[in-house]
Amino acid sequence: MRVDTEFEPLVTPRLELRRSRPEDAPTISGYRSDPEVHRHQGWDRTDEEGVRLEIEEMAGRSPGELGGWVQFSAIDREDGELVGDVGLSPAEEEPGVMKAGYTISPAFQGKGYATEAVAALMDYAFDVLDAEIVRIYANGANAASIRVAEKVGMRLIERIDRGRGRFAVRYELSRGGRAFRHASDPTDT
Ligand SMILES: CC(C)(COP(=O)(O)OP(=O)(O)OC[C@H]1O[C@@H](n2cnc3c(N)ncnc32)[C@H](O)[C@@H]1OP(=O)(O)O)[C@@H](O)C(=O)NCCC(=O)NCCS
Repeated sequence: MRVDTEFEPLVTPRLELRRSRPEDAPTISGYRSDPEVHRHQGWDRTDEEGVRLEIEEMAGRSPGELGGWVQFSAIDREDGELVGDVGLSPAEEEPGVMKAGYTISPAFQGKGYATEAVAALMDYAFDVLDAEIVRIYANGANAASIRVAEKVGMRLIERIDRGRGRFAVRYELSRGGRAFRHASDPTDT
């Protein structure tokens, strides 16, 4: 995996993904504290101070660097609104495997923003960071998250039993799988 010490924001048709900044904390804390957003995620703290501390801690890490997550805020390019956040974290002791995470504020869900942001994040992980596999974990009951993983081309790899009828899922796309997908769909750029 490459470490990108000179990260430049990722630009998609509607969004800019830039490193999260401490001043993003009130907005991010706002939507993460929504029980509907929170229930499928494993955050320890969603209060403003906790989110700010986490952003400050992540600022010391470059994308591709081992040791934890780096986070990007998804900004609507038209009006500058922060609509959500996405993140990357190299899997420990699995060289080449990059974990991704994503959250969109309820006010902006259902507009394809997560799909757009995660697709760009995946391209960045493969093309710039030289990842071999991009992976997400989701609660098995989190249909929207699973749908996003499917829409960006990931496939179900593992169903992880969590007991009492609950389970998590692991979705992945490999570099080879991505090349195959591009080759079999000439309209897919
Ligand atoms: C998961 C999440 C990021 C999706 O964000 P989003 O911007 O609304 O996603 P998109 O609009 O790109 O795509 C959502 C897809 O899920 C589908 N979907 C949404 N809710 C669904 C549900 N309850 N059941 C089935 N599909 C659902 C949408 O219809 C859409 O698919 P489609 O384009 O085929 O119609 C957002 O719901 C979220 O932040 N949830 C809380 C945090 C979270 O769970 N993050 C992921 C952790 S792994």
